[in-house]
Amino acid sequence: MSKKIVLSGSRPTGNIHLGNYFGALENWVRLQEDYDCHFFIADWHALTTGYSDTAMLRKNTISLMADFLASGLDPSQSTLFLQSQITVHAELYLLLGMNTPLSWLERCPTYKDMMANISEKDIATHGFLGYPVLQAADILIYKADYVPVGEDQIPHLEITREIARRFNFLYEKEVFPEPQPLLTKSKVLPGTDGRKMSKSYNNTIALGDDPDEVRKKVMSMITDPARIRKDDPGHPEVCTVFAFHKVFSESEIDRIEQECRKGCIGCVACKKILQEKMEKFHTPIFEKRQKLLENENELLDILRDGSVKAREKAERTIEEAREAVRIGFK
Ligand code: TRP
Ligand code: SF4
Repeated sequence: MSKKIVLSGSRPTGNIHLGNYFGALENWVRLQEDYDCHFFIADWHALTTGYSDTAMLRKNTISLMADFLASGLDPSQSTLFLQSQITVHAELYLLLGMNTPLSWLERCPTYKDMMANISEKDIATHGFLGYPVLQAADILIYKADYVPVGEDQIPHLEITREIARRFNFLYEKEVFPEPQPLLTKSKVLPGTDGRKMSKSYNNTIALGDDPDEVRKKVMSMITDPARIRKDDPGHPEVCTVFAFHKVFSESEIDRIEQECRKGCIGCVACKKILQEKMEKFHTPIFEKRQKLLENENELLDILRDGSVKAREKAERTIEEAREAVRIGFK
């Protein structure tokens, strides 16, 4: 039996941080054995909000590829590719866009939310409104069965399913299977200040951060503000260090919690334990990443090879889609 098809993508917007890693990448790495996986860098999607500032696109693409590989995505197992190298995504985006009702896009929560909250750049564009249509093309062109995504992407996946259904109905042909979300439970890591980890809050720890920087960030994390002396009883539930321990010190979590509540461990010592665990996890990834970045051309070659594999499949599907629409006949 052939393996089910998995597809997911990530925009090249800067260094992957631990929130992204535990929210997505770690899962992707695990899926590689059991599924026919496709993971890609969504550089066209980066343009939907970043069209006016493209100076960093190349650097961010290379750095995301290094993050992918250093995290354990394996080009001999999965198809790793660059969206803009498979130009037929754009053709499918166009065909799907012709019959996608405007109302589906206008009522999309991510669209409404970003239109209301982003004022520093003009995102009232055709491209930004069409974000979910392009995402649908990315998914449908590989006939993906499963799309591992976070909660925030569920509305996009729902639109993808609606778009698939509508296409199949309009042209009376089952060209596109409806993809399902793959909601694996992922570990949740807050930012160093306790809020959601996000570049815009300046509270991230990135895979590409220097180990020394990581150490400093850990040692300066906010703990329970009610603990003034080190034998004051602590409240781990309000402490960011404890939230990190839940991810990095699973086997010792009960002991750390009790010692904190009883006031028999000081915050500095507690952070030190965390710092050592994180170093064990982070330093090897960081070093692998640095090594990969020494040879940018090799990274780009791997991406290009993946794109060749992806293109083959995508071109088969676009041919079927053209036929169904009865356009571009020979
Ligand atoms: N929208 C996704 C994100 O911001 C990126 C993405 C683009 C994607 N196309 C996709 C994810 C297709 C899954 C499938 O994270
Ligand atoms: Fe947080 Fe550890 Fe201090 Fe408790 S002892 S408040 S868990 S840093």
